Amino acid sequence: MSTNGSNGFEPRLIGFLCRWCSYNGADLAGTSRLKYPPNMVPIKTNCSGRIDATHILKALKEGADGVLIAGCHPGDCHYINGNYRTAGRFPLTQKLLEQLGLEHGRVRLEWVSAAEGDKFARVVTEFTEQIRALGPLGWSAQFVDESVAAPAAEKEAVPA
Ligand code: FES
Repeated sequence: MSTNGSNGFEPRLIGFLCRWCSYNGADLAGTSRLKYPPNMVPIKTNCSGRIDATHILKALKEGADGVLIAGCHPGDCHYINGNYRTAGRFPLTQKLLEQLGLEHGRVRLEWVSAAEGDKFARVVTEFTEQIRALGPLGWSAQFVDESVAAPAAEKEAVPA
């Protein structure tokens, strides 16, 4: 990824995209040759309702500066009410993340249908600029990699 932002910072974004609508909207944006920043890594999920705070926290812990969740419009979820669950949970998830010190705006929820390639491109463009303005999150540097730390701790526990 290039570092051509005005402050040298290029946001790293994760997008959890529902496979039935938003992922196809992303495909349409691509096949329509719409221009939008290449900062988001898309992750295909079966439904936006599958994404909860643990997925968002893992993405942020592993280096994402922002997380987008995108699903079918209300009433169009292929699992009937998955996106209603997403919408209901999202304010609580935002509160939790703010309690952990995350600035408002680093996590975004959008409804993008398979026919809305233009909306997908606009959302990614807006979100990239929003996160660029917030700056790097840097949570990954604050977490100790437990898989590396554990063996060292075990060694210390063994008597000489
Ligand atoms: S299947 Fe798309 S949000 Fe549920």
